[in-house]
Amino acid sequence: NLPDMDEIVSLCKRRGIIFPSSDIYNGYAGFFDYGPLGVELKKNLKDAWWKHFVTQREDVVGLDSSIIHNPTTWKSSGHLDGFSDPMVDCKETKLRFRADQIFFSPVVLEEDSSIVGYVCVQEANDEDMVKEATKQANVILKEKGMKGTKIKAFQFREVVEATEEEMSQIPSPASGKPTLTMPRDFNLMFETKVGATVDSDNVAYLRPETAQGIFINFKNVLGTSRQKIPFGIAQMGKAFRNEITPRNFIFRSREFEQMEVEYFIPPGDDVWPEYHQKWIDASKEFLSDVVGLREDLMGWDVHKGDKLAHYAQACTDVTFKFPFGEQELMGIAARGNYDLTQHTEGSGKNLEYYDEQTKERYIPHCIEPSLGVDRLMLAVICSAYAEDEVGGEKRSLLKFNPRIAPIKAAIFPLLKNKEQLVRVARDLFKQLSQRYNVMYDAAGAIGRRYRRADEVGIPFCITVDFETIEDNAGVTIRDRDSTEQIRLPIDEVIPYLSKAIDG
Ligand code: GAP
Repeated sequence: NLPDMDEIVSLCKRRGIIFPSSDIYNGYAGFFDYGPLGVELKKNLKDAWWKHFVTQREDVVGLDSSIIHNPTTWKSSGHLDGFSDPMVDCKETKLRFRADQIFFSPVVLEEDSSIVGYVCVQEANDEDMVKEATKQANVILKEKGMKGTKIKAFQFREVVEATEEEMSQIPSPASGKPTLTMPRDFNLMFETKVGATVDSDNVAYLRPETAQGIFINFKNVLGTSRQKIPFGIAQMGKAFRNEITPRNFIFRSREFEQMEVEYFIPPGDDVWPEYHQKWIDASKEFLSDVVGLREDLMGWDVHKGDKLAHYAQACTDVTFKFPFGEQELMGIAARGNYDLTQHTEGSGKNLEYYDEQTKERYIPHCIEPSLGVDRLMLAVICSAYAEDEVGGEKRSLLKFNPRIAPIKAAIFPLLKNKEQLVRVARDLFKQLSQRYNVMYDAAGAIGRRYRRADEVGIPFCITVDFETIEDNAGVTIRDRDSTEQIRLPIDEVIPYLSKAIDG
């Protein structure tokens, strides 16, 4: 059972995981700030990804390119001309919508089938919405004295394909004027200016994906890393998209982070499917075994031809059942050699690979696993959210995998005013904090301290009690999920934690 989104958003704020950006100025749509717990969780996810896909692999190397590239990059990659969404403004509500995604639009048809008006609703693919829209359309028709007119509901995408003239003929039955503007392409790249001169030459763009930084460095990395195909280049970092409708909290924001690999392989229709499958398997392994996402919430979506991006031969999404529905968490695309070919043309540089064994030259193809850090974080929080009962009391907890938990352990002296207990607990804190993000908490009854730790997902609570100091009996370690406690000598605490955290 997943909590609803309002609960997730308020929990994230209450516990210092995620705040709306510029909160004191009433926020800024599509932007978020990560608080003390959020920044740790995010860092742990990124570190785990880097370790799994870069450090622990011999065939992948890392890169950290600049966020702003030479603008020609985006001309070559196709983003300048093609990275846009069809956008429609509703003049009545002043809302702006992504035309391909958001609406069903019941179109009102007269006897001769000409379009006389339509009503917009949010949420495509939702039968209730279509029904509701149809109902609204009927109300409007009644008001206009046009009751009984035949109406038909269809996806907005079809209207997007209407000509400008057809669109301009659509009057709104409610106001007598068209309520929606023509769908027009809205480029999602944020523009900025580089340098002091004020002319169109210095327009530059914030990168909308980290991938292009990899492609434009292909030659540099190939020439310096001693890698041979097949090999990959990994990069993580901020990406920016001026999303028309940022929604569902950090699921679709305007500033986010991506973790991407471009894995370069030889050309050939019989070559890529095997590598594509390997990266699908590796991605799944990372998400379930390393991050610890609930497998019952994960799924797959193999893109059909018409859903493929212009550069892709194939794409499989890993999906996640978010509280607002099953949606893409990450994509694993077979990108062919589209990008390197484009950059060869755009730059005039030779980006071919020379295979010493076969004596062949070719532009490599690539497989691209691409995962959003923020989207992953939302999935992790939804996956970890749990409620149960302990000792007859309701408990809410976050069951983070110890590997990615923001705080790994909490150290409690049983009493805060017993000097000997405090000294041992402080010493232990000092020792553990060399390796892990741990917390010292001496305030309140021990039961309350356990509860506080559970709420922020701390997997282990370590208590220094009288047996520790009087009988040299070590400390107790309580497991967050089972609430069971064991006793361990102090010098076994680090090996115990390390087994759970470092794997
Ligand atoms: N280089 C390929 C690429 O960027 P994409 O499907 O546009 O492909 C990849 O993005 C991943 O980046 C998505 O699966 C998602 O996890 C994340 N992502 C994309 N747009 C996002 C946004 N507006 N907010 C948060 N995450 C986003």
